[in-house]
Amino acid sequence: MEKIAVIGVGNIGEALISGLVASGITPESITATNRSPERSQELAERYGVRTTDDNVDAVREADVAFLCVKPAQLLDVAEEISGALADSAVHTVLVSMAAGVPIAAIQEAVSAAGTPIVRVMPNTPMLVGKGVLAVAYGRFVDEGQREGVEKLLLAAGDVVEVPEKHIDAVTALSGSGPAYFFLVAEALVDAGVALGLPRDLAQRLACTTAEGAGAMLAAEQDPVRLRAGVSSPAGTTAYAVRELEESGIRGAFYRATEACARRSEELGK
Ligand SMILES: NC(=O)c1ccc[n+]([C@@H]2O[C@H](COP(=O)([O-])OP(=O)(O)OC[C@H]3O[C@@H](n4cnc5c(N)ncnc54)[C@H](OP(=O)(O)O)[C@@H]3O)[C@@H](O)[C@H]2O)c1
Repeated sequence: MEKIAVIGVGNIGEALISGLVASGITPESITATNRSPERSQELAERYGVRTTDDNVDAVREADVAFLCVKPAQLLDVAEEISGALADSAVHTVLVSMAAGVPIAAIQEAVSAAGTPIVRVMPNTPMLVGKGVLAVAYGRFVDEGQREGVEKLLLAAGDVVEVPEKHIDAVTALSGSGPAYFFLVAEALVDAGVALGLPRDLAQRLACTTAEGAGAMLAAEQDPVRLRAGVSSPAGTTAYAVRELEESGIRGAFYRATEACARRSEELGK
């Protein structure tokens, strides 16, 4: 049985555990830690995983240790567990889910030279098994370890390998991307209410439309063709899209994603 440690069980840590358990991984093989013990307790009750308040204990002899804390805490945690990694008989693979923090900085924080490190940019649809997880591998990760990590991550969604230099851009697209779609849904609900629809009806229409559009995108993968398909000449949608374009929606996304990628880079410094 593979031993898995999950350090930090907030949104991403829980989404990961939920996916792993749903994919058939034995909960007893997962040890979760968290700063607040109440949260660890919650996870133990919900998924049957082991919990401890000791990060060092959790990673001892683990095959894979997922670091799911905030970027500001990541290097401290890496330093905290570095002794256990160095003393371990197992070559633990460290998998960081944090935005911004480069593999080189994590490598420096762990004293054991040659620690296999993987950097992942996940997103919250992991919670429903529909995440996309972009993965960059450090140079000490061997083929078998890559396959093992990828297999675990597939429990939470689609897995895409990217060079590390693209991770900040990936953060701007898929890492933070769900929030953009939620914002669009929220704006549509408010707009529907402004047009006189009851809020619960507007919410149902916006959410079900998002779900349907998402399913069509998943099947087709080409937003241009899909949008053309609902824009008949001089029709209602063409008029609406013209308003969105004149309001600068495309420019807003260029600026938003640039700001996000820049912020991701800053978080790693
Ligand atoms: N949320 C997203 O959409 C998203 C998307 C892509 C990537 N990420 C990355 O995923 C990581 C986690 O994000 P999140 O949204 O899951 O954050 P979160 O909900 O705040 O979870 C972080 C968890 O880490 C725990 N923690 C803090 N210090 C710890 C320590 N020393 N030892 C053990 N546990 C500790 C926290 O416990 P307490 O609450 O008790 O302090 C908290 O439960 C971040 O690095 C972020 O960059 C997040």
